[in-house]
Amino acid sequence: MNNEFVRPVRKRLCEGIETDFYELNDSAHTVVMISTMAPGAIATAHEHDQTQIGLCLSGSFEMSVGGETQRMDALQNCYWAAGGVPHEGRNNSGAPAVTLDIKRDQQATDVQLTAFPMSEIFMAPSRPKSIKGGLDLWFFVGPWFEVMFSNLSPGALMPLHAHRGVQIGIGLTGSYTMEIGEASQDFRKHDVYFADEHVPHSGFNGTDTDATSLNIFIPPRWNLLPIKERPIAL
Ligand SMILES: [Fe+2]
Ligand SMILES: [Fe+2]
Repeated sequence: MNNEFVRPVRKRLCEGIETDFYELNDSAHTVVMISTMAPGAIATAHEHDQTQIGLCLSGSFEMSVGGETQRMDALQNCYWAAGGVPHEGRNNSGAPAVTLDIKRDQQATDVQLTAFPMSEIFMAPSRPKSIKGGLDLWFFVGPWFEVMFSNLSPGALMPLHAHRGVQIGIGLTGSYTMEIGEASQDFRKHDVYFADEHVPHSGFNGTDTDATSLNIFIPPRWNLLPIKERPIAL
């Protein structure tokens, strides 16, 4: 299955909202959506069986999930909505906003695997850390997923590795070479990659500018509870 780098299909779902859909064709039927919301646009209250993770990529909008509302500023906070929980997004900011949403079928492993409780909705960023080799990162840690922001500085290498659990990436700024299985691509703003379980992947920034991206891990890899405290074996 060649779904490592996914081509989007553009659709207009609501007045004032243009969405690029990236269908990953994985077993959880994951869809990544990158939308531009015009000022005043509303993604009216709705619910679905799938679970949804979302954040703001640029500008600002307001998100309500299960009766709780928070202003979403670019890369400052993240929400999740379990299947069946009503949610609504509206752009009251007076300027366009770019949003990221990830929808997928709820899985038996969507249980509390980190310190973030299942009952909470909105996540703040973790403290940043630097890793040898020119890699800076921080996380939004959800209960059964984590969203990692990474900055590969010029010359930085994320060495070839493989692991259990899926990894989904969204390019933000700059570009780097992303290799997944047999596929390789110059990975840029709003490109989407999918590394399925156990598929080897690596990243290398051969350019002379920083390259930033979001990398989603399901289940989490970096912020798991100790084995004894997890409700399921991973
Ligand atoms: Fe939704
Ligand atoms: Fe990985």
